[in-house]
Amino acid sequence: MTTIALYNLKGGVGKTACCVNFAYLSALDGYKTLLWDLDPQGSTTFYYQVKPKLKGGIKNFITQASDLEEAVMNTDYDHLDIIPADQSAKSLDVMIEEMKHSRKKLKNVIHTFKKDYDFVFMDCPPGLSVLAENIVMAADIILMPVIPTTLSARTYEMVKSFFKEKELDPAKLTCFFTMVDLRKNLHNEIMETLYKDKHFFQSYIPYLSDVEKMGIYQAPVEVFARSSYAAQCYRDLWAEIKEGVL
Ligand SMILES: Nc1ncnc2c1ncn2[C@@H]1O[C@H](COP(=O)(O)OP(=O)(O)O)[C@@H](O)[C@H]1O
Ligand SMILES: [Mg+2]
Repeated sequence: MTTIALYNLKGGVGKTACCVNFAYLSALDGYKTLLWDLDPQGSTTFYYQVKPKLKGGIKNFITQASDLEEAVMNTDYDHLDIIPADQSAKSLDVMIEEMKHSRKKLKNVIHTFKKDYDFVFMDCPPGLSVLAENIVMAADIILMPVIPTTLSARTYEMVKSFFKEKELDPAKLTCFFTMVDLRKNLHNEIMETLYKDKHFFQSYIPYLSDVEKMGIYQAPVEVFARSSYAAQCYRDLWAEIKEGVL
């Protein structure tokens, strides 16, 4: 089982868009895939049109890790399950206190899914918190979308400092460019500089309206625009990520 966390200190950078698409592509490859929506905003849950389970089907309060297994729901797609945001929020409320005492709390919880899944994707909330620390400890790979702008580049440096300060493994940090507009000189310049940094994948996601349409179709790009350039970009990047982990 490989655990991949879509993470950035910054919000609105395309974590959810990427998480939704990569998890779908992983399942399409035939890998047993679990998507865990850790962001209380619940955007991933929205994109997958997850409906609440029947009354009594799920515990109202998750008090321990093993209860989380009951929060796993099917999606409309083969090989792809999801822990929706409302269930995660309950479990995180319980776990966050314990996270303050153990950086491995989340890692231990995820371990319960080891026998059932090939890939676990975590869509993470922004921030540098005890949760972020737990996420880095739990994940095999931290996938960080970076918009090639001055502020995003600065955030990237802050995340690297966070890794150093908390003595987290810097080899886990992998990045890619997103919302790229190559007509902008600044985007080109920042990409050229940061590509020298070994943390970045070569493939990137441009700024494309088909990505925004995910909100209208409530589905991954591959489902409603399979032959689009956006779908091709996600496939290329997913192929590069897989090459790195398998
Ligand atoms: N490559 C892209 N091209 C155009 N719009 C994008 C792209 N990636 C994300 N978006 C849009 O930007 C907004 C923020 O993306 P989202 O994935 O929710 O970010 P995050 O999860 O980091 O907060 C959403 O409205 C989304 O549709
Ligand atoms: Mg998000």
